[in-house]
Amino acid sequence: MCGIVGILGTHEVAPSLVEALRRLEYRGYDSAGIATVNDGRLDRRRAVGKLVNLSDLLVHEPLAGKSGIGHTRWATHGAPTVVNAHPHRAGPVAVVHNGIIENFRELRAELTAAGQSCESETDTETVAMLTRAYLEDGLSPREAAAKVLSRLEGAFALCFLFDGEEDLLIAARRGSPLAIGHGEGEVYVGSDAIALAPMTSRITYLDEGDWAVLTRSTVEIRDAAGEQVSRPMKTVQIDTSRIEKGGHRHFMAKEIAEQPVVLADAIAHYLQDSGITLPEPGLDFTQIDRITMVACGTAFYACHVAKYWFEQIARLPVEADIASEFRYREPPIPARSMALFVSQSGETADTLAALRYTEGKADRIVSVVNVLESSIARGSDLPLPILAGAEIGVASTKAFTCQLTVLFLLAIKAGLDRGTLTEAEAEAHLATLRNLPGLMNHALQTAPEIERVAKELAEARDILFLGRGAMYPLAMEGALKLKEISYIHAEGYASGELKHGPIALVDKTVPVVVLAPSDALFDKTVSNMQEVMARGGKVLLVTDAEGAHAAREGTWRTLVMPGVPPILAPILYALPAQLLAYHTAIAKGTDVDQPRNLAKSVTVE
Ligand code: AGP
Repeated sequence: MCGIVGILGTHEVAPSLVEALRRLEYRGYDSAGIATVNDGRLDRRRAVGKLVNLSDLLVHEPLAGKSGIGHTRWATHGAPTVVNAHPHRAGPVAVVHNGIIENFRELRAELTAAGQSCESETDTETVAMLTRAYLEDGLSPREAAAKVLSRLEGAFALCFLFDGEEDLLIAARRGSPLAIGHGEGEVYVGSDAIALAPMTSRITYLDEGDWAVLTRSTVEIRDAAGEQVSRPMKTVQIDTSRIEKGGHRHFMAKEIAEQPVVLADAIAHYLQDSGITLPEPGLDFTQIDRITMVACGTAFYACHVAKYWFEQIARLPVEADIASEFRYREPPIPARSMALFVSQSGETADTLAALRYTEGKADRIVSVVNVLESSIARGSDLPLPILAGAEIGVASTKAFTCQLTVLFLLAIKAGLDRGTLTEAEAEAHLATLRNLPGLMNHALQTAPEIERVAKELAEARDILFLGRGAMYPLAMEGALKLKEISYIHAEGYASGELKHGPIALVDKTVPVVVLAPSDALFDKTVSNMQEVMARGGKVLLVTDAEGAHAAREGTWRTLVMPGVPPILAPILYALPAQLLAYHTAIAKGTDVDQPRNLAKSVTVE
């Protein structure tokens, strides 16, 4: 996901632009750049790779000016090159952009036919070119920008900077979030409050379709219809300790370690003395006969785990699907259905599109998100925060376990509402949940042992993860964690499925990670393990003391977790899966926090 920042400052802005972009690094990027206006002249610097390359360039080729824009680019149209890096410029205007301009090819054809030439392969350059055309027709910067916005199709956040305009920024939001920051005699634009945290906590979020004309002393916001509107200014306190590494080597390590604390925060938030407390307008599961859960990646695996909980605890039928398939399947949404969307960022394009599909069809649209100002949260009847705090590492860890925590609470509430769970049974589950943070602390103590095993895993070319029941989606999540940061091919399978084909992959070079607490399905999983070991497969068994006692014989390695009631094992066993991935990636020397090719939030299809 690209990152945008703009500053109308009272000091040289280049260092502040780069600092703001540094706080957007977590979104994933492969090039960066800034542009400023100094003595009326627009100029820019761009560099491929990490921000340090841009900083180096600015040391050798400084960029003066108190007005500027900046961008971190995650390549969509065109390779990560300087030419394709933002800001894009056409004559007297520079633009930074997050999203996709879907009609850029026809606009580009129109503009090149009129004599303009392109230097890049990007859709964003077309925006600058179109703006230039209207400026050359005699329109003012704000008229030109308004005209351009009326012609663009797609999802975008944009910020414009103009030659000769030292006190003007124009910003627009359509499908990608954009915030305005209010300073002392300064004004800012940013993709989120994290980028602006070094400068201000006074934030105004643009609504869908809004665009804004900013000077140091005025903020004029217009809605999609062009009507002037006012949007609330909020004080958004970003706990900067949570967006620094806190002494850890990587954000991912910090966020894995934070899980007991943030889970305890989430539990305390929803579990009051009066029981499970949801924000208004609340949820009455007696009105719901079916749940459709939709998400992507790790968030989808959280949905898949929750499917077992809703069905077993509340006897509620659940469909869980990945958003990129759901939105094109055009599934029927029967009456008395709840659509439930899970998303850490709240900006994943496929999940947002799936939510839009359910509008007017589902009786309730609920979201479980980490960012309450996000597009998915704002599109929901009931957004439920997971309270994980900013998650910077591209690989989702604490968000996953916090998502599971909130989903588990929803399943308990559903059981109570529908009478499939007695108060006593519910209290027993909630007591287990309250104990979970302590158990997670114990599980984190296995990190040194996991690090040793990971060094051996790092030699593998292929790794399988197995699980049964709600541990099956966890096996898929463990495989995703490993492959996305260590680049080793890994697959997650239902243990019982191995013999239907995948076991052909097994030989002594293929480690098989079996996630199996000693639950009702344990013996069956042990049988699957033995099928693997009989073919020379190396089994890494992750279980509890009882399971280890019963089945460690013949395994390659065994990791022993604290005992936990099986229903909550998927949350606890996420920790060894995360730590295995983390330490394997360390052993492989990959970029743990910003793995190649990945973005923290995928705001394009
Ligand atoms: C998780 O480790 C991945 N980075 C990715 O699968 C992520 O979970 C997915 O893109 C969904 O993101 P979201 O939760 O912000 O919607």
